[in-house]
Amino acid sequence: MQLLIQTSPAAQTEADAFAVLAFEKENGNPPADSGFAGQNGWLAELRASGEFTGKLYETAVLHRPAGLAAKRLVVIGAGKPGKFSTVELRRIAGTLVRSLKEKGVRSIALLLERDMTSADHVLASAEGAVIGGWEPDKYKSDPKKDSAEAKSIDSFNLVVPGGAKTFLADALERGRIIAESQNFARDLVNEPANKLTPAVLAEAARSMAAEEGLECEVLDREEMTRLGMGSLLGVSQGSAEPPFLIVLKYKPAETKAADQLVLVGKGVTFDTGGISIKPSDGMEKMKYDMAGAAAVLGAMRALAQLKPPVAVTAYVPTVENMVSDRAQRPGDIVTAMSGKTIEVLNTDAEGRLILADAITYANRNGATHIVDAATLTGAIGIALGQYNIGAFTNNQDLLNKFMAAAASAGEKTWQLPMDEEYKEYLKCAFADLPNIGTGRYAGSITAAWFLREFADPTPWVHLDIAATAWLDEGKAWISKGPSGVAVRSFVDLALNWS
Ligand code: BES
Ligand code: ZN
Ligand code: ZN
Repeated sequence: MQLLIQTSPAAQTEADAFAVLAFEKENGNPPADSGFAGQNGWLAELRASGEFTGKLYETAVLHRPAGLAAKRLVVIGAGKPGKFSTVELRRIAGTLVRSLKEKGVRSIALLLERDMTSADHVLASAEGAVIGGWEPDKYKSDPKKDSAEAKSIDSFNLVVPGGAKTFLADALERGRIIAESQNFARDLVNEPANKLTPAVLAEAARSMAAEEGLECEVLDREEMTRLGMGSLLGVSQGSAEPPFLIVLKYKPAETKAADQLVLVGKGVTFDTGGISIKPSDGMEKMKYDMAGAAAVLGAMRALAQLKPPVAVTAYVPTVENMVSDRAQRPGDIVTAMSGKTIEVLNTDAEGRLILADAITYANRNGATHIVDAATLTGAIGIALGQYNIGAFTNNQDLLNKFMAAAASAGEKTWQLPMDEEYKEYLKCAFADLPNIGTGRYAGSITAAWFLREFADPTPWVHLDIAATAWLDEGKAWISKGPSGVAVRSFVDLALNWS
């Protein structure tokens, strides 16, 4: 999909569909309709017909209205003016792409007018369009039927009459890079586990790094054994697929601060649960247990192009958690790289075991701030549902910074507590730590506390994305399947680092 900025008059825009936003009535007051479509009388007619109220994402189509160069005028609801933000705008752009491609539309123009002409509005619209264009249909074989190619938008044009073109083109380009990187992450997550093994993930990281100019190093089993990563290696021992630790480095041309921001992503390419095997119902979804890894790789791809002022290093431990005669057993005790011993009470709590060694390795290599993303616990969905990333920290300043970045990127996060009391659930008679908490309480928090034992004292944020990385149902603005969550927040965090 090509993205363009146009600053010439709205009426002259050539497109299969020319889209304008229209608001809903708020507190009994009818919307102003002072924009282009309002002035031309088109909106009044639609509203009078009762076909269009301005409800969020509702659309109405007028064919060939007089005075418009485009083939169709599409009016899309923007909801209540008081509740409108770039979050809604991003979704509106996605909704336009997803609904209009079904109708054979190839080129869309979206009018940004009045108080919607800032760089942030352009960025959000560009992101929404690119995210909305992604489909999980790579492995469908009939291209005529419903493949992305058969039905896709060729160009998405943002019309900002009288806008400063180069300034807006810059925002457009940023939006494109970020959203394409989010889609890069979604592509990785979408791969089934027979296609995307740890070795294939490592190779994908290596080739992305070569393309984008990032340093890349991949540690293999031998090197990890030498480093004493017993916690990570224990998880991988049941699989015929060898484990890897992927390291990617971005270094800015001029570093003002000595900070080294570290991103860590859980890369379990398939999670059967191991000997503590998962129920078969829904197990196919466990191919997305590497969504944290994908988010980190996606963010690094964007950062390589956008060049933030801070050094960013990615650590991506990747393994397959399988059942076999070589698999680790409940009750096994492993020694992590940090020296701590861990009793593996449940082999399905494997994410924290691989992250522990990756975090220790990051700490040994100069991490000053760590943010990890992991599909870590089913419990996070019980606590927060599918709408908020669960966030945990040992350093409130860093989490505040992250949450500000997430808010500006349009991703929702909710902080969960990490009081010392919760450590009571991580008592162990036979080793330094158990890999699960006692009982069923606060599963996401005990998982976070386990990680913290390896992150401390470095400022650290943990993101549990188990419930947000996969959409069980598509929305008007995004398909079902991998969401690419956390990519935009990571990018925003690094770009606004100071
Ligand atoms: N990969 C799962 C977490 C998960 C669950 C991700 C659902 C996506 C959707 C993780 O490795 C796991 O199995 N966690 C266990 C921990 C338990 C054994 C303490 C869980 O959540 O049940
Ligand atoms: Zn598991
Ligand atoms: Zn897992």
